[in-house]
Amino acid sequence: MIWDSAALKEAVRSKIGEHKFIVVSNREPYIHRRTPNGIVCERPVSGMAVALDPVLQACGGIWVAHGSGEADREVVDERSRVAVPPGKYSYTLRRVWLTPEEEKGYYYGFANEALWPLCHIAFTQPVFRQADWETYRRVNEKFADAVLEEMNSDTGFVFIQDYHFALLPRILKQRRPELVVAQFWHIPWPNREAFRICPWGEEILDGLLGNDLLGFHIRNHCQNFLDTVDRGIEAKADYERFSVTRGGVETLVRPFPISIDFALIDRLANCQQTAGRAEELRAEHRLNYKKVGIGIDRMDYIKGIPERLSAVDRFFEKYPEYRGRFIFLQLGPGSRTEIQKYKEYDQTIQNLTAEINRKHGGSGWEPIILFRSHLPPQEVVAYYQLADLCLVSSLHDGMNLVAKEFVAARSDGEGVLVLSRFTGAARELEQAILVNPYATDELADALKTALEMPREEKSKRMERMRETVREYNIYRWAGKIITELNRRLV
Ligand code: F6P
Repeated sequence: MIWDSAALKEAVRSKIGEHKFIVVSNREPYIHRRTPNGIVCERPVSGMAVALDPVLQACGGIWVAHGSGEADREVVDERSRVAVPPGKYSYTLRRVWLTPEEEKGYYYGFANEALWPLCHIAFTQPVFRQADWETYRRVNEKFADAVLEEMNSDTGFVFIQDYHFALLPRILKQRRPELVVAQFWHIPWPNREAFRICPWGEEILDGLLGNDLLGFHIRNHCQNFLDTVDRGIEAKADYERFSVTRGGVETLVRPFPISIDFALIDRLANCQQTAGRAEELRAEHRLNYKKVGIGIDRMDYIKGIPERLSAVDRFFEKYPEYRGRFIFLQLGPGSRTEIQKYKEYDQTIQNLTAEINRKHGGSGWEPIILFRSHLPPQEVVAYYQLADLCLVSSLHDGMNLVAKEFVAARSDGEGVLVLSRFTGAARELEQAILVNPYATDELADALKTALEMPREEKSKRMERMRETVREYNIYRWAGKIITELNRRLV
């Protein structure tokens, strides 16, 4: 059976029934901004938000998230609620307001300067500030208030997203033990030796063990979590059942590889407008008669962007016959720009691009085009379609949805995916050219292999990967989680 929106709706109807369904995340699925032409509603740059939105559209319910847009307050009702998506209302977005100090300590500080590098192990040292930790705790309480206000006196299912809310499950269970609470951790879970350095490790583990179900992308992260708990806190890890029991209460720990709405991207890829846009982009960037490589990422040090640019540099050194015949497009928005590490990273990428372009470019041709902006979905698909290869070189990534989107966008069977072994996606997309992003020569050679791969082999690999993403899509991901939880809903 292929899961789709209708199948998920049916699963929700039969399994959740009259219970309330509340999703919680930091990033909101729709952001309102002021423009000279009035308030506009935009989609954020977040794999998590893009993945969850079709689920909520299918199931209905309430999504509680930080209201971070400058015009967010202008469109909500007196209870900070707004119906979304615009013009196609299918669920309620409940916004939680944070002060600049709260955002600084909880989001930039503890979530993104401590937990993010702690869990990713991309050799960026986590920063643990006591004040950030205290703010993180307070903000988790604040979200708990909003969730419980929305839950009212009803029973229901709370589905928490990500590392911003490690303490929320326990707070919810302490206040309302009958609620069913699940959490999906969208980033890796490190091995226990790495996790041990966190000064508040025990509180974090205890918070997470408030969940009835805790999901990670891959089995290896579940295993790491069980090991961490086994040695780090008073609890019993059961490696047979994949669960942890603390204080007589069991938390199931399960892998659920997240995915995308395959059908939606496939539809976008097959519409005439997208093909037309791809042609326009070819002309705009002067790509005609050239081979094209593409990378689309938030500017984040886990994405391995300098490593990939160095590989492009090495590729032209080793294979100079490609000078003037190959262009690499690096697209994507800035991210978490308040954090010094991210500012420096952005600068490194700009400098490296300029240096490589100086070194190899000439006669009106530059090997790398760096384009830093947020692109709407159809534009992204048009870019995927004009590329001969897509390069995902993350140093470590829970899943990486760009890899899956690229595959969904290539119904023509063309295009080769070059994918870091250190992504969750590499476990499923085995027909990609799998690479170690730290090995510059290997990456450079993979570019050549991709560009010279015979058409028949390309389409065979692409077809296999498309079958995988078509079947293991976002509706299946949500359906499996809901099915697993069903047993706990009374
Ligand atoms: O990968 C983890 C994650 O939180 C995703 O869930 C999300 O898409 C991405 O990072 C973006 O992060 P932020 O919301 O901080 O921009």
